[in-house]
Amino acid sequence: MKNHYLNRLSVKDKICIVTGGGGLIGMKHSEAILEGDGIPVLLDIFPEGMAKVKKDLQDEYGEDINVETFVVDITKKEELINIRTLLLQKYGHIDVLINNAANNPKVEGGSKNLGATRFHNFPMDIWNQDLAVGLTGAFLCAQVFGEQMEKQQSGVILNISSDYGIIAPDQRIYRKEGVPEDQQTIKPVSYSVVKHGIIGLTKYLAVYWANKGIRVNTLCPASLYNGQDDEFVSKISNLIPLGRMSNPDEYVCTILYMISDAATYMTGATLIIDGGRTIW
Ligand SMILES: NC(=O)c1ccc[n+]([C@@H]2O[C@H](COP(=O)([O-])OP(=O)(O)OC[C@H]3O[C@@H](n4cnc5c(N)ncnc54)[C@H](O)[C@@H]3O)[C@@H](O)[C@H]2O)c1
Repeated sequence: MKNHYLNRLSVKDKICIVTGGGGLIGMKHSEAILEGDGIPVLLDIFPEGMAKVKKDLQDEYGEDINVETFVVDITKKEELINIRTLLLQKYGHIDVLINNAANNPKVEGGSKNLGATRFHNFPMDIWNQDLAVGLTGAFLCAQVFGEQMEKQQSGVILNISSDYGIIAPDQRIYRKEGVPEDQQTIKPVSYSVVKHGIIGLTKYLAVYWANKGIRVNTLCPASLYNGQDDEFVSKISNLIPLGRMSNPDEYVCTILYMISDAATYMTGATLIIDGGRTIW
């Protein structure tokens, strides 16, 4: 029967939570879920981003699609428990969690936060905030939604890391000529720590829940093109064997693969999609 295997690329009627769902890649995760006939449930601290994502999804897939949105701070466990209760009252199951939210400082271009992200004076409050969203938030979401998956004996958790979960940032690509050394903007240390840490969380949970029907994996996207200036695009492209940044669309099929029954033997894995950057 043709499509015998392709039919596995389905999350039909599955409740698929996306943290940071109102951001750039949250939209793409939602497209993957809708392409697989699932129900995206967006969680974000800012309503505006989610409203835009929902509107864009309706423009793309039709007014009648089912997209749930919740304004929530994922660092607050009680808020997550409330959402779990509401989802279970309405649907009775929770099937997929994509831990996508992270503070993702845009340091390219050199114009913002000059010097503020350098290591020797990196502010403790930013460190705490970044770890709270990127690591504690993922930990809490796994705890709260994973508890239900454990009851169901089925579920998928996909943690979003980065090429910076594998390699250190090459800070030369963020440099600006004429700016004093102590004012040069760099990718902050917290980003590396969060993105490496989430791979550890994946491996831990993959083993912890291996016999409970829950698969846990990491996807490392890299270098999304989002209107960065030509100088930055040229510098980073030189570090990538494919010679270019990625298009956000280039992760969608992989996301659907990883959260669907097409990937039933994949757990604890770190899948890197980076145009080859980390092999150089
Ligand atoms: N954009 C890239 O180039 C790139 C590359 C590699 C990896 N990533 C990773 O992909 C993921 C998504 O990136 P993005 O570019 O879409 O980022 P983004 O900044 O556009 O979206 C992140 C979203 O998280 C939300 N958020 C922040 N704190 C929150 C909290 N406490 N509770 C709930 N929501 C909160 C923000 O409001 C935002 O909508 C991140 O984990 C990022 O590290 C991005």
